[in-house]
Amino acid sequence: MKRHHSSGNREFNPETLALGYGYDPELSAGSVKPPVFLTSTFQFHSALEGKRFFELAYGLREPDEGEEAGLIYSRLNNPNLQMFEERVAAWDRTEKGATFASGMAAIATTILALVEPGSVVVSTSPVYGGTHYLLEHILPRFGVERRFVPAGDGAPAALERVAEEVGRDRVRMVFVETPANPSLVHTDVAAMAAITAGLGRSDFRAGLVVDNTLLGPVFQRPAPLGADVVLYSATKFLGGHSDLIAGVATGAARVMDKVLEFRTILGTVTTPFNGWLLQRSLETVSVRMRRQAKTARKLALLLQEHPRVRAVHYPGLLQPGTPQHALFHRQCTGAGSMISFEVDGGEEQAFRILDRFEVFRLAVSLGGTESLVEHPASMTHADVPPDENASVGVTPGLIRLSVGLEHRSDLQRDLLHALEA
Ligand SMILES: Cc1ncc(COP(=O)(O)O)c(C=O)c1O
Repeated sequence: MKRHHSSGNREFNPETLALGYGYDPELSAGSVKPPVFLTSTFQFHSALEGKRFFELAYGLREPDEGEEAGLIYSRLNNPNLQMFEERVAAWDRTEKGATFASGMAAIATTILALVEPGSVVVSTSPVYGGTHYLLEHILPRFGVERRFVPAGDGAPAALERVAEEVGRDRVRMVFVETPANPSLVHTDVAAMAAITAGLGRSDFRAGLVVDNTLLGPVFQRPAPLGADVVLYSATKFLGGHSDLIAGVATGAARVMDKVLEFRTILGTVTTPFNGWLLQRSLETVSVRMRRQAKTARKLALLLQEHPRVRAVHYPGLLQPGTPQHALFHRQCTGAGSMISFEVDGGEEQAFRILDRFEVFRLAVSLGGTESLVEHPASMTHADVPPDENASVGVTPGLIRLSVGLEHRSDLQRDLLHALEA
């Protein structure tokens, strides 16, 4: 399939694009599947061609009509990464993508590229523990302040309040993780985008960055709702097999060009082989996520009925008539396969349950083919102060499940067995 999103008037669906978009078999001896371009560097036809490729890469001139960036060096670009980036960008309905060495590399590079010393980043809370650490401990060393607003229905009003407090022109980035990990609370992307559009300076507008790891790209598309950058830990559903660490960000070309400039110089890109693995995994992401979500729904219902479970957080169980339910239906097309639930007895009881799982593996991470279980307060979110964690639902009795592709009945039995603890 050549480089187009549609054939005649008919648009291809992302599942179709994931199987061929951006790849021309004629350039690879007719191979139906793209080879792995395991090379650090690319040979130029002539010195002039090399010069012209560099001019484009470093923004020294505008591209000629129809001219695409030439292949130079795998820290800048590589066919396996480009194909994956183009396919995720097409799925997200954005113009351009960038693959990274990890989800954290995607987040850190994007933030560094889009803020400057003196800027304020306003982030929803909770966010993944590594993101929290970056905002709390690393960015202040570079003169970038952070403010947290609770994820959920109150986030837009809280963003307005914080922006007034710190100065609307100083807010250069709004970071939203939705649904939030691990509380699974939704934040209204369109409402946050409308406010973000009025923040920053006229020559340095604030950008809205959405971490779409938990539901995207299959069940949630933040870009058409106004997100400037959509990013993922591709280690999770996009990679999907718990065999690699990677990240990806997509957005409008004007924003992604800045992000790509930083990726080139910081060297936060991933390897061609990871790019190839990601390409392969993207072909099945829709099938995997839909099947995993189907099983997760059954498990969430089982948890909801269980006497030992105090509360279940799962987007598919939101109460009709609540703002979260309405937002979920506006913003998402499926509930995904992450569930968190709370048990009485705090950490001690949670640990007893965690130690009894046999099919669910006791490990951090999510979105792989195998089911995982973890304890956010002492593991993925261990760095966040306990009161801050508790204020956003990350209590000592909270357990997080990532539901995989095992047979549903085995997972049900395993869950019931663990809850007997
Ligand atoms: C929502 C979310 N964003 C980002 C990350 C960071 O991704 P990575 O571990 O690939 O750096 C994670 C990791 O668990 C995550 O859950």
